[in-house]
Amino acid sequence: MTDQLICGIDIGSSKIATIVGIKSGEIDELKIIGFNTTVARGIRKGLIVDIKEVTDAVEDSVEKAERMAGHKIDHAFVTVGGPHISSLNSHGIVAVSNPQGEISEEDVERVIEAARAISLSTTRQIIEAIPRDYIVDGQPGIKSPVGMSGVRLEVETHIITASSTNLKNIDRVLDDLGIENRGFVFSGLASAEAVLTNTEKELGVVLVDIGGGKIDTAIYADGALSYSSSIPIGARHITNDIAVGLRVSLDSAEKIKLYLSKNLNSSKKKTPQINLNELNLPENVTEVSLKTLVDGIIAPRLEEIFKLIFEEIEKSNFGQQVPAGLVITGGGALTVGMLETGKRVVGLPIRIGIPDKVTGLVDETTDPQYSSTSGLLLYGLKNIMTDEGAGFKNFGRVLKDFKLGNTFGNLKNFFKQFIP
Ligand SMILES: Nc1ncnc2c1ncn2[C@@H]1O[C@H](COP(=O)(O)OP(=O)(O)OP(=O)(O)O)[C@@H](O)[C@H]1O
Ligand SMILES: [Mg+2]
Repeated sequence: MTDQLICGIDIGSSKIATIVGIKSGEIDELKIIGFNTTVARGIRKGLIVDIKEVTDAVEDSVEKAERMAGHKIDHAFVTVGGPHISSLNSHGIVAVSNPQGEISEEDVERVIEAARAISLSTTRQIIEAIPRDYIVDGQPGIKSPVGMSGVRLEVETHIITASSTNLKNIDRVLDDLGIENRGFVFSGLASAEAVLTNTEKELGVVLVDIGGGKIDTAIYADGALSYSSSIPIGARHITNDIAVGLRVSLDSAEKIKLYLSKNLNSSKKKTPQINLNELNLPENVTEVSLKTLVDGIIAPRLEEIFKLIFEEIEKSNFGQQVPAGLVITGGGALTVGMLETGKRVVGLPIRIGIPDKVTGLVDETTDPQYSSTSGLLLYGLKNIMTDEGAGFKNFGRVLKDFKLGNTFGNLKNFFKQFIP
């Protein structure tokens, strides 16, 4: 078996990151061979607001990652997030085609298709339909029904939908750059792939990705993704608050914020005044009071952020099923005071999620801001594996691409997967 390239493009509000992974031969292990991060342009709160700027930024990032990897990127998985994301859980039911025989792959595909048949406005599209649980002849709790016998097959699925306009815009960007879209991946799901453990998913856990312009939430209950959402507030709001509170520019405020998380998260002794001399800020701010900055400016915003997260958990109706608590990731996760405030407001266990499941040439990617980036590779790996096993997941994904009206190439792939 030859080496397989898996590529991901993470289009965030603060940065665009491209990642190239390689899976060699029979080993299910991935190695990162190319990576780049570029300042995002033309994105606000996860949405494309200037397609030309986004195309230029993605091109920059992709070219640099290609150079590092020594491979051309002509296909990629791409993240999508922002308040246009919504989710629901849908039930599907079919009669098993051969009631005397075993449940086949085809029955599983049909039941997922049945669950996907939800009424959807013309402006929205399904980007994900993940089976949560199968029920065979009324018996729930089945994770893989193929090969079992039964007459009635049911499935509970988690469906994520997104605004068609935004998806089309992302497709335009990729088309312009000659990159085939292998699938839209909700950024919260990508981050979950990168930082959650299986035990956490089984127990029930809330993944929170605090990015620059949005916060993604992905809630797992009983091992399955059960709620997804994305709210339009992010770590950039903390920068804004510092800028207003200290009367400095956004650039300076960002520098102060990063300086704080670097110095206060690690050092044990905290002085009442923070010395900012080494930042050489143009405003000549050289010292600020820790109390003003951390308790007065940052903590209230974090509190607001956690209240919003708490509301999302309530809204999901899975609040009683997440004993593993919160796993916070995304660039904003390193903000000073994050864990203390989170614990206090939400009252659940909480930890920072660092994406360290994929290794390779690049150390830089093991930082919370690249959880969704590195998660794209893990998501891609799962899809390649099911590609070969002709699994339902792949069926769902290709069908999804197919529905998006993609080009003939995808149509060809769609049929190719059914050829043994
Ligand atoms: N060490 C750090 N301490 C505090 N904040 C940080 C740190 N590193 C990054 N950030 C903040 O994280 C934010 C960017 O996070 P991230 O890269 O996850 O966003 P994004 O993926 O581009 O955006 P989004 O997912 O919201 O569309 C910025 O506001 C940045 O200031
Ligand atoms: Mg992000």
